[in-house]
Amino acid sequence: MINKAKPKIWYGGDYNPDQWEKPVWDEDLRMFKLAGIDVATLNVFAWALNQPDERTYTFDWLDEMMDKLHADGAGVCLATSTGAHPAWMAKRYPDVLRVDFDGRKRKFGGRHNSCPNSPTYRKYSVRMAEKLAERYKDHPALLIWHVSNEYGGYCYCDNCAEAFREWLKARYGSLDVVNRVWNTRFWGHTFYDWDEIVPPNALSEEWRGWNGRTATNFQGISLDYCRFQSDSLLECYKLEYAALKKHTPDVPVTTNMMGAFKELDYRKWARHLDVVSWDNYPSLDTPYSYTAMMHDLMRGLKDGQPFMLMEQTPSQQNWQPYNSLKRPGVMRLWSYQAVAHGADTVMFFQLRRSIGACEKYHGAVIEHVGHEHTRVFRECAELGAELHKLGDAVLDSRVQAKVAILFDWDNWWAVELSSGPTIALKYVEEAHKFYDALYQAGISADMIGADADLGGYDVVIAPVLYMVKPGVADRIERFVNEGGKFVTTYFSGIVDENDRVTLGGYPGELRKVLGIWSEEIDALLPSQSNRIVMKRTDGGLRQSYAASMLCDLVHSEGAEVVAEYGEDFYKGMPALTVNKCGSGEAWYLATSPETAFLRDWLPGLCADAGVKPHLQEVPSGVETTLRVKDGRRLLFVLNHNADAVDVKLGNVGGTDLLSGKPLSGTVSLAGRGVWIIELQ
Ligand code: GLA
Ligand code: ZN
Repeated sequence: MINKAKPKIWYGGDYNPDQWEKPVWDEDLRMFKLAGIDVATLNVFAWALNQPDERTYTFDWLDEMMDKLHADGAGVCLATSTGAHPAWMAKRYPDVLRVDFDGRKRKFGGRHNSCPNSPTYRKYSVRMAEKLAERYKDHPALLIWHVSNEYGGYCYCDNCAEAFREWLKARYGSLDVVNRVWNTRFWGHTFYDWDEIVPPNALSEEWRGWNGRTATNFQGISLDYCRFQSDSLLECYKLEYAALKKHTPDVPVTTNMMGAFKELDYRKWARHLDVVSWDNYPSLDTPYSYTAMMHDLMRGLKDGQPFMLMEQTPSQQNWQPYNSLKRPGVMRLWSYQAVAHGADTVMFFQLRRSIGACEKYHGAVIEHVGHEHTRVFRECAELGAELHKLGDAVLDSRVQAKVAILFDWDNWWAVELSSGPTIALKYVEEAHKFYDALYQAGISADMIGADADLGGYDVVIAPVLYMVKPGVADRIERFVNEGGKFVTTYFSGIVDENDRVTLGGYPGELRKVLGIWSEEIDALLPSQSNRIVMKRTDGGLRQSYAASMLCDLVHSEGAEVVAEYGEDFYKGMPALTVNKCGSGEAWYLATSPETAFLRDWLPGLCADAGVKPHLQEVPSGVETTLRVKDGRRLLFVLNHNADAVDVKLGNVGGTDLLSGKPLSGTVSLAGRGVWIIELQ
């Protein structure tokens, strides 16, 4: 657990005193105290300030601020500042500048813009990390390292091209294997020399496709380039990590992630982080279940270990198209939503608003008016006091879920690089449909990687498991044989890890466990739909549901047909099947159903597996999770509605840690209210 040095939910966030003159600092520190802020993330974008030229390093401002914060009893999340390189570096060493998707060599500007394979970037970023570690290794305020910032973006420069070839050599050993896994006899692409291989951007294999997504002629090349760029940035992170650990082996290290961020395989990254941290920026109309899923996705990266909420806005955003205010109570509610899903910190971007540039209209604890008499400050201060009272009660507890949704970055890339059968298929949206159906029923889910242990779950759902990586089918089979319920969908079991089709009939490696053969896949126009006609309507199921997007034309090979198509030439063919295997079941949903179907069907399937919601009746807009530690069970109940609701606790009861009140029976939960009930 990271919070040992400060055993409470850390409260604070990004603070940029380096943008301000000193008189402002003391005012800030005074207000931090008022707000109960005890952690400041410093130095995120101060590289150019700390290193004015190649040989000079100056950290006076940072020394002083670290000391001041420590004197005030606050700790520091210390960033290495390598998320934006200095202008002098770009001028002198253009290799730090990226080449973009369109093949243009970038000039200095923006941030998160360094070529990950630039020798200059690697040398100076690691050197900066090392300087900081040497300097602050014994500083009592240092709590955790924050490497760079929100890594992301791909580069297509010549250094990357060279590094890509080396990466391929390490992965495949020979050009023969590369030619085979990429199927390069297609369109006459056989490579005879490594340096014939070039990065796949708009100058070569890729273009911006129908839906704005990257399209490619060669899925194998593009998929490997995603893996390679993710690995290249990861290598930059790992080099800084090693430099930091050399001097501070016991200080945890993280980098801030961004939820369902496509470019980086976060599951792979997480192995190299001591703790996962992430930045949560929902907009006013983001479904609560989507935010919940993102928290669960981040928690799943390290198999359930608590994570850090590194950033959220106290109220307003600046980079969304419409930047709504967080309504009164919403910041507190969403902070507890993060905690309910496993966060052990509540941190903001930012503690004080900038005076200029593009984030000056981004909300902050301290607004431009400069004093504490604002709605936002008051809400922040109230939460600060409350978190102080809560102490260590929830720290290091684990979220309990018996249902898992499998989410895999390789699969995501492959699904969305696919040319056909439909541009409507969006992997995150598909996963969210299933997550949301569980969420509405009050059933918690873990979001797990394709390599995760399935043993602890009763139900495993793998939406659109298009790519089946080595060993995955075996583990699914074992899970089912041992009594688990497995659910997968349309467009699953089609390809191997290199996007080569598994021959012999879809769904390939999953065909046996599912007991079906999918002969063809129909893609429906947006205006078209089909129907799922149920053969049984027990458990509150309707007789028929709408279906759209994709329809697999399935033959049963032993599976029981539970529903059929109601329209078109494949009317009467299976739309939903279940195959009994060992003591478990493997379900195949052959088409994309309307929301009502998943909401009607999934809770029953979970109940059959012995999985129940935390509360018997969950009012609409109320979210529940359970965090458990040393036999203590903490039930989080969050009311996303603006108005109060009556919550029937039924046979559940205990003390609300926030109000100190005992709760049982039917109790009214205030609009945007929160309980953390320690169950008896
Ligand atoms: C990200 C970055 C911050 C800031 C915020 C604004 O999360 O990490 O530096 O730009 O967005 O929302
Ligand atoms: Zn590059």
